[in-house]
Amino acid sequence: MRILYLGDIVGEKTIEVLKQNLDSIKREYKINMVFANAENASQGKGLTEKHYKELKALGISGISMGNHTFSKSEIKNYINDATIVRPANLNTEYGKEILYVKYNDKTIALVNLLGRVYTYTPLDCPFKTMDRLLNEIKADYIFVDFHGDATSEKKAFFYDFSGKVDAILGTHTHTQTADEQIYNNTMFISDMGMCGAYDSILGDDKEMVIKRFRTGVFEPLKCSNTNEYIISGVILDFGVKREITRFMKKYTL
Ligand SMILES: [Fe+2]
Ligand SMILES: [Fe+2]
Repeated sequence: MRILYLGDIVGEKTIEVLKQNLDSIKREYKINMVFANAENASQGKGLTEKHYKELKALGISGISMGNHTFSKSEIKNYINDATIVRPANLNTEYGKEILYVKYNDKTIALVNLLGRVYTYTPLDCPFKTMDRLLNEIKADYIFVDFHGDATSEKKAFFYDFSGKVDAILGTHTHTQTADEQIYNNTMFISDMGMCGAYDSILGDDKEMVIKRFRTGVFEPLKCSNTNEYIISGVILDFGVKREITRFMKKYTL
């Protein structure tokens, strides 16, 4: 089993890039299944039903989210029936804490957690939440998208849950790290990076972000409107030997 897990998809133009290239990526890298973080797919914040359906049509089997899960409030209307997992340490009745996805006769459980370092939302402890979920999950494989800012928190989570889950994959910083490793059979990377505009600041228009920092005035941002995009993520191999490989490629729209 070989899985491609894509980091945060930022903006609808990136969905177009995926429409043009995901099939050939799957063929070239012999990918059996694709998962993705899509918390930024709709105008950089949240996921509309239209864009959710477009990602599904691309063959993305499971979608994890992050701090922008509910940034488009229409998600409340469809998330319960969608192949989306929302952060389990948010306290809401909307959405699933565990998403089960089938691959042949195997079951993969997908979990999404928010880190608490440098985040401002009141959140349950991600470590204790994972303890609780491990008592519930019945699956052959468990993948965790740990959505947070701090590499220290992600790495602590990795060592704490190594041997108990199969992959712990970081998202949220939109910047791919070079610290992939396997310990106790658990695959790890602090951050898978983003799928978004190359000439940008984390996917957003760079002039608008610079203005924010120069003025301290938080006006809404727009996704960068350029033609060069990077698609980032990791490839997880569950062969005789487990392997985690960074993936990052540039595409022109
Ligand atoms: Fe993000
Ligand atoms: Fe985020």
